[in-house]
Amino acid sequence: MAKLAINGGTPVRTNLFPGYNTIGEEEKKAVMKVLDSGNLSQFLGAWHKDFFGGPTVQQFEKDWATAFGSKYAISVNSNTSGLFTAIGALGLKPGDEVIVSPYSMSASALAPIIYGAVPVFADVNYDNFGLNPESIESKITPRTKAILIVHIFGNPAKMDEIMAIAKKHNLYVIEDAAQAPMAAYKDKLVGTIGDVGIFSLNYHKHIHTGEGGVITTNNDDLAERIYMIRNHGENIVEPKGVKDPFNTFGYNYRMTEMEAAVGIEQLKKLPSLIEERIKNVNYLSSELSKIEGLTLPKIEGNSRHVYYLHAIKFNKEVFEVDRTTFLNAIKAELPSSVGREDTPLIAGGYVRPLYLAPLYQQRATHCSFNCEKYKGSVDYSKGICPVVEKLHYEELFTHEYIKPGLSKQDLDDVIDGFKKVAENVNELKEVALEA
Ligand SMILES: Cc1ncc(COP(=O)(O)O)c(C=O)c1O
Repeated sequence: MAKLAINGGTPVRTNLFPGYNTIGEEEKKAVMKVLDSGNLSQFLGAWHKDFFGGPTVQQFEKDWATAFGSKYAISVNSNTSGLFTAIGALGLKPGDEVIVSPYSMSASALAPIIYGAVPVFADVNYDNFGLNPESIESKITPRTKAILIVHIFGNPAKMDEIMAIAKKHNLYVIEDAAQAPMAAYKDKLVGTIGDVGIFSLNYHKHIHTGEGGVITTNNDDLAERIYMIRNHGENIVEPKGVKDPFNTFGYNYRMTEMEAAVGIEQLKKLPSLIEERIKNVNYLSSELSKIEGLTLPKIEGNSRHVYYLHAIKFNKEVFEVDRTTFLNAIKAELPSSVGREDTPLIAGGYVRPLYLAPLYQQRATHCSFNCEKYKGSVDYSKGICPVVEKLHYEELFTHEYIKPGLSKQDLDDVIDGFKKVAENVNELKEVALEA
């Protein structure tokens, strides 16, 4: 008789897991205060004290800089606009190359293209899924100007090696820390190690303001250019007497006072939210690590992984079924969460290796890799990053049964779901044979 739910057995659990909601009375009160003031944004796109935004935006930035130990924390309306700003502020231009990760949200690789530069994909490490230092070094050409690394899933990239490569070749380091607030590489918070770091405050992240982002840097010159790109920099050049206006023309990437008010309250909650995620993962890992064929994420030395997602490697030789079959069986045992009824909390792979998207395959932009000033020959063929392709298409899966708000019973159900499928995997082989 079938035991597994996918074959008609009784699932481990049918009632939804709790949803993840970090917004409480504190945020409501803070937003009401802003609404009552009638001042929903105080930015002015001119050289004036309001060029830096209103009191709540400035307070939020001050709090962020203190929490992260960076000289500057500059709010923006998304991590995406923050990445674009960083690329512009570093002076990147057509003909330049930036080494990027193929395993990230699309914006991480897109950012160089916005300023006409060319993203060059390096492969990732098999153990932490971040950019592989040897692969980075193999992609460096005389045109390379920067390395844009991603602390993917909340796991710090190999910063010692990456910073050493950058120093040797005189390259900028941009850290996409969208998924990694308060993650630490050894004793340093990520986003504050390279030249510039960018955080996301979108709705999916550890903490959020609906949409939003923060750029961190310790460099005065870079900060000046970031402020300008955020807010109509072309109007600032003359009155401020900016010596080098290259790439300082601006956009409107400004955060509102309401978002900043939410951000101030969310930031206070960040340390305990991170602590709870780590506690949940440690509890799950103590049992999941006993299942042969699953490999849990590797964290270097005394670094801190903050688990935006829990990424696990699946060994199909051990289970003798493929990853999709295994995950479908887990999905049948464990439901999703409140508010996410139609989207499973577990998925095979992450995003398709970015170079396989039509943008790169069809070279669908007028500049960047198609620009006359570009003298290189970047390769976006399938197979250029074999490790990421193997991870994405065969081995890696991610799940979100780690979020604060889950009880011990919830986590025990998750463990039971995994164990049940692993112990009865023969049932899946029989189904595969019959098919
Ligand atoms: C690694 C990474 N980079 C960039 C982004 C873009 O962030 P945002 O939605 O704030 O623009 C995301 C968001 O999912 C991300 O996870």
